[in-house]
Amino acid sequence: IPVEPFDFIIFGATGDLAERKLLPALFQRQVAGQFLDPSRIIGSSRTKMTDEEYRAYAQTALKEHVSANELTDEALQTFLGRLSYVAADATTGEGFDQLKTVIGDNDVIRVFYLAVAPALFGEIAKQVAAHDLITEQARIVIEKPIGRDLESAKLLNDTIGSVFKESQIFRIDHYLGKETVQNLLALRFANALYEPLWNNAHIDHVQITVAESVGLEGRAGYYDKAGALRDMVQNHMLQLLCLVAIEAPPSIDADSLRDEKLKVLRSLQRINGQTAGKLTVRGQYRAGASAGGPVKGYLDELGNGESTTETFVAIKAEISNWRWAGVPFYLRTGKRLAARVSEIVIEFKPIPYSIFGESAGQVVANKLVIRLQPDEGVKQWLMIKDPGPGGMRLKHVPLDMSFAEAFNVRNPDAYERLIMDVVRGNQTLFMRRDEVEAAWNWIDPILHSWNDNNQEVQGYTSGTWGPSSAIALIERDGRTWHESV
Ligand code: BG6
Repeated sequence: IPVEPFDFIIFGATGDLAERKLLPALFQRQVAGQFLDPSRIIGSSRTKMTDEEYRAYAQTALKEHVSANELTDEALQTFLGRLSYVAADATTGEGFDQLKTVIGDNDVIRVFYLAVAPALFGEIAKQVAAHDLITEQARIVIEKPIGRDLESAKLLNDTIGSVFKESQIFRIDHYLGKETVQNLLALRFANALYEPLWNNAHIDHVQITVAESVGLEGRAGYYDKAGALRDMVQNHMLQLLCLVAIEAPPSIDADSLRDEKLKVLRSLQRINGQTAGKLTVRGQYRAGASAGGPVKGYLDELGNGESTTETFVAIKAEISNWRWAGVPFYLRTGKRLAARVSEIVIEFKPIPYSIFGESAGQVVANKLVIRLQPDEGVKQWLMIKDPGPGGMRLKHVPLDMSFAEAFNVRNPDAYERLIMDVVRGNQTLFMRRDEVEAAWNWIDPILHSWNDNNQEVQGYTSGTWGPSSAIALIERDGRTWHESV
């Protein structure tokens, strides 16, 4: 469905995010017919460039990140025709008058996308306000990291909140734009089947794995200061946990959904100095083999023998409410693991008693596996009778719904969905201020405990599933990590 015409202003227009994600996503949405004329894209960064030079930059980015059959010459020319560029420096204000002239005086939807380092969020917001660019139709988009702890997150939210209304602020978590993540809502709330079982009477535990095979990818400056807990758990993993755990909201509108997520975040049992050693594992990759070849260890990649930044985290989290009390949520995420795989596993309780006897084989508990990537899909593992005349032998098999097989459509990138939601003004898949702060409120004590107790960062060989203590974390409870590949 086409949306109203809009101006999309990208700060950090020559950065990695613009190149790899934003320009390709905007292009795809144009191809999908969602750009009404005269929608424009205005790039801005400190680099001096002409419009022509920026169009050449965008063309190179699209050639790199959009498949050749989608990049028809006609679509490309139309897209490049929408682009212009203004050099501006938020720290001095230089260039903002020119930006104002290019944007002009209109009341079309106006998106300011801050694809820049968080240190510049406040500066840009202030310049945009000082130059009178915030209309009723304006929205601002910011990316994580939104702070590095609760205090800095509040400060950042205050600064942006002093010039934009909360309804105009879109805090992106690109995991919420992933098809399968939204499907979790459909699975839970558009089917009668699961909800009656979705509680501590029937669910034994939940596992959330976000495993990557990549290492630092040239982001050492950011990553070494952040670590896996801030980079992945504070945002993506907690968002996934929330969608598994929320109560049914009264509707899918932004505040209804976010109210429910907030309640989950506030119900997370606090992990502190006494419990962190038992409930959390920190790891850092050593040399090994990953993604098809030998790879360096983290410290070598960093070129610094000192860092104790974690590239892997496993946590046993618990939610203190009526639905979930006693159901552990085991979370693990890391770089340079055995495979790139993200999935949510809901493991149901075992049957109370087997009538089949030992010769039928073991009765395995039912599992629902929601695969986010790769090979998006849902598998419901069930026990069935092994076919054939050989007597009653039981087998654990999946009812398998692969999205690629079920729907023969291109799987859009998360950013495509999210940027158009910004244009439409739909905040459902964006984080509200209180949500981000509640997430930090749970993360902060873990960070403090690690720091105060010098919790060890355990080495793991690249290409494995992390330190052995992450396996012990779940096996101690008589459970095992779901085998993802
Ligand atoms: C980003 C993290 O938010 O998510 C990266 O900063 C990580 O470290 C990335 O690699 C993972 O995203 P995806 O979509 O590839 O799973």
